[in-house]
Amino acid sequence: MIGKKMEEALNEQVNAEFYSAYLYLSMEAYFESVNLPGSANWMRAQIQEELMHAMKIYDYLNERGGRVLLKSIAKPPTKWQSPSAAFEAAYKHEQKVTGLINDLVNLAIEEKDHATNTFLQWFVNEQVEEESSVNEVVQKLKMIDSAPGGQFLIDRELGQRIFTPPAAQGE
Ligand SMILES: [Fe+2]
Ligand SMILES: [Fe+2]
Repeated sequence: MIGKKMEEALNEQVNAEFYSAYLYLSMEAYFESVNLPGSANWMRAQIQEELMHAMKIYDYLNERGGRVLLKSIAKPPTKWQSPSAAFEAAYKHEQKVTGLINDLVNLAIEEKDHATNTFLQWFVNEQVEEESSVNEVVQKLKMIDSAPGGQFLIDRELGQRIFTPPAAQGE
């Protein structure tokens, strides 16, 4: 059975993952509003990633005899200065989430909860992916800053992203 402190912290993380999904849903709506369907599609895939993260922790809590307690999800920002600014905000957000995951690992170590520490390693690796995939978009958008038509090309590329469910990833 999971300890109280760890249980509470993981419940917080369930909320943080749902907030991430909510933030990216807000970004998707923003991209729709500025006529960038590819970027909107990229965010749709990202939302599914975040929901999958939330459910992974939800299932783990139940498996360990913990009690899932859902909290309110904060209101995300609704607009950004530019498409690049939105992706930069997404990158910043992922860095913040990496910090949250690291704090959870520290707590698991403190609590000598080896099972949770092992469980969290998946998230440690996932955050490397998450940061790098958003940063890749940020860097591309930086490169085309002055080139007309570049935004259109990148948007078309972002339109190709599809969410791969964990089962298909061999998890
Ligand atoms: Fe996440
Ligand atoms: Fe994420």
